[in-house]
Amino acid sequence: MKPIKVGLLGLGVVGGGTWKVLNQNADEIARRAGRRIEVAAVAVRDVAKAKELVGDHIHITTDGMDVVLNPDIDVVVELVGGDTLAKDWVMKAIEQGKHVVTANKALLATHGNEVFAAAQKQNVMVAFEAAVAGGIPIIKAMREGLTANRIQWVAGIINGTTNFILSEMRSQGLSFADALADAQRLGYAEADPTFDIEGVDAAHKLSLLSSLAFGVPVQFDKAHIEGITTLAAEDIAHAERLGYTVKLLGITRAREQGIELRVHPTLVPSESMLANVQGAMNAVMVHGDAVGSTVYYGAGAGELPTASAVVADLVDVARLVDADHDHRVPYLAFQQNAMADTPIMAMDDVQSAYYLRLRVEDRPGVLADIARILADTSISIGSMFQEPAVNDETDIIFLTHEAREGDILNAILKIQTLDFVRSPVTRLRVETL
Ligand code: NDP
Ligand code: HSE
Repeated sequence: MKPIKVGLLGLGVVGGGTWKVLNQNADEIARRAGRRIEVAAVAVRDVAKAKELVGDHIHITTDGMDVVLNPDIDVVVELVGGDTLAKDWVMKAIEQGKHVVTANKALLATHGNEVFAAAQKQNVMVAFEAAVAGGIPIIKAMREGLTANRIQWVAGIINGTTNFILSEMRSQGLSFADALADAQRLGYAEADPTFDIEGVDAAHKLSLLSSLAFGVPVQFDKAHIEGITTLAAEDIAHAERLGYTVKLLGITRAREQGIELRVHPTLVPSESMLANVQGAMNAVMVHGDAVGSTVYYGAGAGELPTASAVVADLVDVARLVDADHDHRVPYLAFQQNAMADTPIMAMDDVQSAYYLRLRVEDRPGVLADIARILADTSISIGSMFQEPAVNDETDIIFLTHEAREGDILNAILKIQTLDFVRSPVTRLRVETL
């Protein structure tokens, strides 16, 4: 069979890895795909640097549109990132009838509905395994392996940088700032790690997982997002003492009122699988009504792991390039004409258990006043402990039973007005999954 011709936009960490995997495993990949997969053109900014990797026999340009418009190219692989130029190239490639493979979660989280609608119209594939959890084949699992199930929830550690930082804070007792500096020194975090530490990167990925789980459009704009920048080392230590580990989780869950879509630091039981995902690794738990809980673990980023996902998508494209469009796997697991309009729930209506830490003056009546407010706002206390007082101040930590987020916020507002409360109340969610 005729080889499939690839145009590679970007030859950085993921693009370079993709080039390497396609070359080092070329024969094995051809045996699986049924044809060879060949890179025919590359777009980068620095041509000289690209030549060092791919040599002289591949066409190298600084204009991505050259690759997109090249009539010899069957599949455009977008590995540049961002949602400006990348969007123009992806949309133009689709318009040209070319298939697209991308690792760009930011693009798909913000413009995915438009991209998939255009691709549907043009009968082309858009594959994005590398966009969520890097080398873990979670898209494949959710689109195909779990297709028999009514999925009930998905919860995942889907950002390696923040998981590395949280692991360091826990194991070394480091502050957030020191752990972030370590992550940057070791090359895990970007020079500008904002999207990682503010939870935005995880929310990009979660929005895609939510669509795959529940057959709804991609709704990143409705996600509730909290990062880890304000997390204190002492809360990680207190959580530990209570038998919990703090992880940045992306959670999407089907409820009667709609779909939860939220990213935030979360206390999970220390013996649970997610609690034991260390360093920059990722893990995703998917709970289906038939299969129960399943867990997918592996490298969520990096040159070769991410390339593994990109090349798997290329093999899928190579296998299905001649198939009728209606017989390919739908972009978001559900047929485009069968998508649901289930609403994303307001965060106030989400139910969770909570960890609350209050710094208070150590005097009689303090606990009684706090307990009264919690009772008046329908919040049931699961357990509590008090730290030894220092200079007449002490920390009281409560674990609550499940409560409505709106009620918890209301209670915190009231507690905050009490004259013995010495600093803002710390609130973290607790999930037993
Ligand atoms: P890099 O910054 O390492 O590479 C980007 C590449 O794009 C470089 O080759 C760069 O060229 C090229 N490029 C940038 N701007 C232009 C332009 N205007 N015209 C032509 N080429 C351009 O990024 P990554 O490889 O890390 O990330 C790529 C994508 O993969 C992103 O969407 C990212 O979110 C996603 N991703 C990344 C993962 C990772 O582990 N890094 C994991 C999962 C997804 P030059 O080399 O000349 O500078
Ligand atoms: N910045 C991302 C992370 C890279 O830390 O997981 C992969 O998407």
